[in-house]
Amino acid sequence: MRTDTAPTPTRLSDYAPFDFNIETVALDFNLDPAKTRVTSQMKMTRTGAAGAPLVLDGEDIDLISVAIDGTALNRSDYRLNQTQLIIKNVPDTFTLMIENTCAPKDNTQLMGLYVSGGRFFTQCEAEGFRRITYFPDRPDVLSTYRVTVTADKAAYPTLLSNGNLMEEGDLDGGRHFAVWEDPFRKPCYLFALVAGEFDTISDSFTTMSGRDIPLDIYVDPGDASRADYAMDSLKRSMAWDEKAFGREYDLDRFMIVAVRDFNFGAMENKGLNIFNSALLLADAKRATDMNFQRIESVVAHEYFHNWTGNRITCRDWFQLCLKEGFTVFRDQEFSAHERGAALQRIKDVKALRARQFPEDAGPLAHPVRPTQYLKIDNFYTATIYEKGAELIRMLKALLGEKLFRKGSDHYFETLDGTAATIEQFIECFEAASGRDLSQFMLWYEQAGTPVLSIRTKRDDSAQTLTVSLEQKTYPTPGQSRKVPMMMPVTMALIAPDGEVYAEQMIPLSTAKDTVTLRDIKPGSILSVNRGFAAPVTVNFDQTASRRAHIMAYETDLFSRWEAGQALARDLLIAQTTAIQSGKMPAVDPALRYYTDAIRKTLQDKTIDPGFKALALGIPMGSELLLAMDNVDPIAIAEAGDWLRRAIADNCQIELSRLYTENQSDSEYDPCAQHAARRALKNACLSLLATQGRHDTKATAKGQFDTADNMTDEISALMTLMRNDDAMGDAASDVFYERWKDDDLVVDKWFALQSSRAGKQSFAQIASLLDHAAYQSHNPNRVRALVGGFAMSNPKNFHAYDGSGYAFYTDRVIEMDGKNPGVAARLLGVFEIWKRLDSHRQTLIKHQLNRVIAGKPSKNVLEIAQKALGA
Ligand code: TRP
Ligand code: ZN
Repeated sequence: MRTDTAPTPTRLSDYAPFDFNIETVALDFNLDPAKTRVTSQMKMTRTGAAGAPLVLDGEDIDLISVAIDGTALNRSDYRLNQTQLIIKNVPDTFTLMIENTCAPKDNTQLMGLYVSGGRFFTQCEAEGFRRITYFPDRPDVLSTYRVTVTADKAAYPTLLSNGNLMEEGDLDGGRHFAVWEDPFRKPCYLFALVAGEFDTISDSFTTMSGRDIPLDIYVDPGDASRADYAMDSLKRSMAWDEKAFGREYDLDRFMIVAVRDFNFGAMENKGLNIFNSALLLADAKRATDMNFQRIESVVAHEYFHNWTGNRITCRDWFQLCLKEGFTVFRDQEFSAHERGAALQRIKDVKALRARQFPEDAGPLAHPVRPTQYLKIDNFYTATIYEKGAELIRMLKALLGEKLFRKGSDHYFETLDGTAATIEQFIECFEAASGRDLSQFMLWYEQAGTPVLSIRTKRDDSAQTLTVSLEQKTYPTPGQSRKVPMMMPVTMALIAPDGEVYAEQMIPLSTAKDTVTLRDIKPGSILSVNRGFAAPVTVNFDQTASRRAHIMAYETDLFSRWEAGQALARDLLIAQTTAIQSGKMPAVDPALRYYTDAIRKTLQDKTIDPGFKALALGIPMGSELLLAMDNVDPIAIAEAGDWLRRAIADNCQIELSRLYTENQSDSEYDPCAQHAARRALKNACLSLLATQGRHDTKATAKGQFDTADNMTDEISALMTLMRNDDAMGDAASDVFYERWKDDDLVVDKWFALQSSRAGKQSFAQIASLLDHAAYQSHNPNRVRALVGGFAMSNPKNFHAYDGSGYAFYTDRVIEMDGKNPGVAARLLGVFEIWKRLDSHRQTLIKHQLNRVIAGKPSKNVLEIAQKALGA
């Protein structure tokens, strides 16, 4: 829908309950790709003001008839516009029946009922149900659903919806039907329907109370063997939720379906999760270790929503973090349990810094609980999800494990079956702990990443170390003044001999505070924000030698890793500044400390490969953007190339040795230990290749030719493409020929192409829009080529002549005509524009204005306007 006038925002402060309760919903679908007929019968009871009209949402659907208690309404009895059906006079208790049609095959937004690969799927969160039938499309209207699906039997042999299968049978004319009933009250955003031809893999899980739950995963015909890992992840998730949170599964069966055209990763529809096939299907040959890891965490995430989201849902969409923040926290804890807590923490912090910190520092910054929006689809953000999870983690750190569990038990017991708010959630933890958490609520209200500044003063004769803490949050759009928040500050001391002692957590609730540590061993070094307990930027000016000491001896592996990152960050900032000003940087003694510390880490046999692999990673460009002003992003990329080369030159022997030592002859196993060895091996190869030596390239070519798994194959390919055009081109062609029939691998191929540097490569990337395999309507493929271009091709995306930005913006505009939700998220990459140099700022501003001038969708308009600061 195009908008000419300024759209009005929805505000948290305007919340009012719906005027009617809908006890039951009976839906009848007569499926046809061109024109599906939907009949809905709702048992309504007035709960609000006497005489209030009944207002239902509806979008892109055609009304056939409306009846109350069996009597058809006349056209004058109701009003109908583009977005609403309003019935003026309705009784206090009645049955409403609505008949309408929708056109699934023309649904390019992939919201509501749509067709993908000849099958029917639905996506209703956040506001897709209104594209299926007229209904109060809001999360606080809870009903039980009975769904009848009718379709051609040959074309759509499998008919699924939420809950339990009650009945199925054949009908005349080659059609058949199935009746599903979900006994749990739910909001309409959790409704799902799937119809088509699938292969199934089946298993079962016995719950803590001894109930046997059949588990079914539905995939494209031929893909069944690729769902084993998802099934295994599901069973482990079910067992973990019983142990860690006391949560048992409730329905009589659990189903997951894979779909190729999908706007997000996956969706937690009650009893019938729907997954982007990229986050469900995996085997050794076609999926990377990273894919396996994501599948495990997303399967867990959607399963965990059954309690955090479905049994207890959100009162309104402003409370989105109630389900998403908590569920991300739960999936992170699950992954920590399955794969090791320290490494999981490092990965989660990396992701937070890559996506959430830039968001919080730019024009799209918003609180974890926003107060207004134009399109709720635009608020499925890193802030709601990832920062939302950090808040739960802090809550646990502040209360301790026992009280945290007591609070979550209390939450599940008292709010089950309701649509709740953040206040109610926090009250449960207050009730369980007896603490006052009102100040903690500020974390939900204030946007922006706090800066925690640390200063120390030692008194050797008194053997004390005084630590001054100061927190400050800078203004964000619409919030010029910030107040201090409550945060856990974790710290420890490291003696010169490496002993770690005086570990503690200090709750900071004022702007400034000081702590005096006593009985200090002379020469001890302070380590702060251990485990990244508080999601803040730490400002603590430590010398390179002290950081190297932390890197050598910290027992908290996160802080050990972080000390290396801090060293690398300083080096990269200095190098970027030098490149920008056209000067050769002075030789920085800190480089020695850094590469020596990396070398020692690589040599240490007691450190496991997973940590070594992470330690070899340098800070992302986005981190440097936030730490500097007026930056040339290409200078950042060049500084990164320089530092990686420096690591290779200084640690060549260790890198070569570890590459060889971490080869394996055993059969591929996606487990964390094996994945860590592959990650380390491939990180070594990638660093060594920066030296441009022929023998390294030959090694990469050999690995590419003989790899028996996708992780090794694609790592070698990436290394070749980055370091040798001819070898890269040749290997890339071989790869495409090898995998051209597999959509998920072809996506990887597109993503690799989009990351190629060099002016000539940009022309090649642009020409891929005409490639036979490019699909401009498929979100996965567009994200691979276009999203990949912005994320992993800084040199072309930020090209000085503006060609990269123009190319990207053209794709956003093109996508907006099909799928505004996906287009708006693509446009979001420009959120960092004010950190860039003035030349880039001008170029991006021009593109954002061009987007607005083209009369975009509401989704895209909201992002473009906010990005501009309008
Ligand atoms: N609730 C889903 C999750 O976090 C994500 C989701 C929200 C989604 N809106 C969507 C998925 C639209 C697909 C399409 O797990
Ligand atoms: Zn979720």
